Amino acid sequence: MTRRRGGKRPIRSNGENGRYAHITGWGAEVPERVLTNHDIEKMVDTSDEWIRERTGISERRIADDRDTTVTLGIRAARKALKRANILPDDLDLIIVATGSSEHLFPSTACLIQDQLGATRAGAFDLLAACSGFIYALGMAAGQIKSGQAQTVLIVGTEIFSRITDWNDRGTCILFADGAGAFVLQVSDTPGGVREVVLHSDGSGGDLLSVPSGVRATWNGSEPPPKSVIYMNGRDVFRFAARVMTSAIEEVIRNTGLMLSDIDVIIPHQANLRIIDASMRSLKFPSERVIINVERYGNTSAASIPIALVEAVEQGRIKANDRLVVVGFGGGLTWGAALLEWDVIPTTASYGRDVLREGLYILARVRSLLNRMMRFLESVFVRGPSKSHWRLLKRSENSPPHSEPKK
Ligand code: COA
Repeated sequence: MTRRRGGKRPIRSNGENGRYAHITGWGAEVPERVLTNHDIEKMVDTSDEWIRERTGISERRIADDRDTTVTLGIRAARKALKRANILPDDLDLIIVATGSSEHLFPSTACLIQDQLGATRAGAFDLLAACSGFIYALGMAAGQIKSGQAQTVLIVGTEIFSRITDWNDRGTCILFADGAGAFVLQVSDTPGGVREVVLHSDGSGGDLLSVPSGVRATWNGSEPPPKSVIYMNGRDVFRFAARVMTSAIEEVIRNTGLMLSDIDVIIPHQANLRIIDASMRSLKFPSERVIINVERYGNTSAASIPIALVEAVEQGRIKANDRLVVVGFGGGLTWGAALLEWDVIPTTASYGRDVLREGLYILARVRSLLNRMMRFLESVFVRGPSKSHWRLLKRSENSPPHSEPKK
């Protein structure tokens, strides 16, 4: 078998045409408040021992009232932009994976775009539940490889504590809050996001769902379901263990590699038993699997980026490592990506850091001025109406525009 320099088997290129999507920036953000299993023991009929044994989770982070998916996402995004040493204006596109956004629209992505001052960027949310980050990675890499974009920001941000039924012991032990962000940039050096496989099976939609306020019909004979997580834990467990293994095998096969060529696997952090079961069936060494579910619980679309960022910061991922990230979740959805951690070195510059911080302040001022100008224009050009005052008041008080804490 041909091996490239450094003894590594070459990766089969699938439609990259000399344009590679490299990860050049990353950042994660978790709320400070820790909720332990012992805290949950006081809320529902459960025990620390049961939760640890069945899920591997000991504690998780819960957002305080001032945080939203936007504020957590912005803080993660700012870290990623700083690490990539780029300015908000360099972004062509912002993709946010979230299943817990405050609005159906405006998207969390647009609100993050506004607060970053990424004036050139398109922005949209993507809903693929806990697989969201893999889907976002696929969309971002596709845009870069096709020449549609040079620089893309992807963010996974969740406040699942607000869609959790805290009386349901089957779900409230699992889910939590957090955010992670990556910057992807084009390069002609082979590396970065080399392959992504995405799958879905809507026939299993009812196994894991959160009803929205929008219902086509409701007969009125019983109250509509609350916007909280409904889950069939046993069936989701079986589905997850199966697709995690098959997605890893598929993404590796597509690149002409073998499992032994993979240095590290970063799975969606849903349940330690799911991860263990699929790694056992693959016979992949557990010391090369990144696991932090015991400290953060299941943060849905944020779980993979939080785990990856932590692994990089702990030095568990080295230059030229080949990684597989794999996710599964509601939809049903699942997928995996194969990455080469060929980070192109960027030289941090103090001047640019200061400029970036200045641009964030400017972005807030611009956002406020834009809203005021729109209001004044409507009052003076078309005459005032009650709805103008209502809209202005709402946009001033609306949480998405609130100041990120740090
Ligand atoms: N504490 C104590 N007992 C609990 C409990 C809790 N938090 N939750 C459920 N139980 C009970 C059940 O009521 C049941 O009792 P019974 O036998 O008297 O009826 C018993 O424990 C076993 O329930 P079961 O649902 O079979 O447990 P399990 O071993 O499958 O574990 C999950 C439940 C939710 C931890 C597990 O199914 C799971 O993790 N599934 C995957 C969920 C997931 O990852 N979702 C997100 C995907 S992105």
